[in-house]
Amino acid sequence: MAAKGAYPSFSSRLAFIIAAAGSAVGLGNVWGFTYVAGANGGGGFVLIYLVALAFVAGPAFMAEMLIGRMGKASPPTALGKLQSRAGSKLNWPTVGWIGLIGTLMVLSFYAVIAGQAMYYGLVALEGGFAGWGEEAVTALDADFKADPVSMAIWSAVFMAFTASIVSFDISKGIERAGKVMMPLLFLMLIGLVVYAGQIGDWGRAASFLFGFHEINFSSRLFLEAVGQAFFTLGVGVGGLMTYGSYMGDDVRLPRATFWIVAMDLFVALAAGMAIFPLVFASGVEPTAGPGLVFLTLPNIFSAIPGGAFVAFVFFLLLTFAAVTSSISLLAPTVQRLAEANIRRPVAACLMAGVAVLLSLLTVYSFAGGREVYPLASFGLDGMTAFDLIREGVSNFILPLSGFAYCLIIGWSLSREDVRTALPMAEGRLFTLWYMVVRVIAPLAIAALFIGAVIG
Ligand code: PHE
Repeated sequence: MAAKGAYPSFSSRLAFIIAAAGSAVGLGNVWGFTYVAGANGGGGFVLIYLVALAFVAGPAFMAEMLIGRMGKASPPTALGKLQSRAGSKLNWPTVGWIGLIGTLMVLSFYAVIAGQAMYYGLVALEGGFAGWGEEAVTALDADFKADPVSMAIWSAVFMAFTASIVSFDISKGIERAGKVMMPLLFLMLIGLVVYAGQIGDWGRAASFLFGFHEINFSSRLFLEAVGQAFFTLGVGVGGLMTYGSYMGDDVRLPRATFWIVAMDLFVALAAGMAIFPLVFASGVEPTAGPGLVFLTLPNIFSAIPGGAFVAFVFFLLLTFAAVTSSISLLAPTVQRLAEANIRRPVAACLMAGVAVLLSLLTVYSFAGGREVYPLASFGLDGMTAFDLIREGVSNFILPLSGFAYCLIIGWSLSREDVRTALPMAEGRLFTLWYMVVRVIAPLAIAALFIGAVIG
């Protein structure tokens, strides 16, 4: 145990890897990936997503953790230290502050969706869904969304849970939560995939996700796929930078990155292979959008053997995935406040409270404000506050921060500094990653935005 006042750290390499994988594996893998892939036609989207993971988001992911390791502080402070080290005149902490705002934006909708998942888990625990029929399932979703107060309460329950974990010291809170929840999550997921294989249409699901379909290449498809790659790894808001600042010097970062990205990808694809076989076997469309998990799936649960149990396992899995990510979203602001001598429990409650307040925007978008488009006069017609927050953060803040991280590591800090912070990396691997971070990833992100503007 570190002496009081010392900078916090994870107690082992494995603890760091589990926590970072917990941050990566989240609602984005199960709720997000399946609905975005479903809505964008499957295979082609998945292909672009894989390329984006390998050449843009993955290398940026390692850059973010490395910045944390080199700066050993909350994101704005760490970036400030590195700025003085590089002697740059640009204001690097701004990138950190934008990230902190990003954490609150993600939490604001995360809490609402995770809150609904918890509520559905409870309904399933009481034997719900089994044999319900379509009307009852639709009514459950509609009633939940018609009641902003209970939505807000469930969001608050979720954030309270998150805050209680982050309140503890790193090794007792964040670390332990990952060690308990992540293995259970994997077990439940594998169980669901096997079950879906038994009763669902595996062949069609596999061909939908991995088969080659006609791809309608558009700048929007690229933006969605790259945005999803950043979101799923959790790059760009400083959560990983904060976890990186807690990692021990013995962590082999390239290897850790490989395993975390692999786990994240595995969970997204496995979630697809748990969900789409059931979707296809029931003859419904995979394009339901955000409602895939809360409408299409529960409908299926109501018709299959052991529906209540399967539903319970599914929503518990979704909750665990959400918690291990939301703690990484609360950690950066709490670390920043701790630097101002505010105790962790106080900081955690405070920031969770802010997240709950912001979550009211999403609550409103789902409840009364479904037809309210705040930025319609700016050409963003048809987008609710929730759509704006979700797309704003995953398609803009995350890739742009990732862009900044890449430039910082690739151009502003000296190559020797970066090399020294990665002592265990093999020479050739380092050269490859360094080139990607310097050239390929920034160019790809720049091209993406130019394409989005002119396309
Ligand atoms: N990676 C998480 C997910 O897939 C979301 C997240 C975003 C976590 C940003 C941390 C930072 O759901």
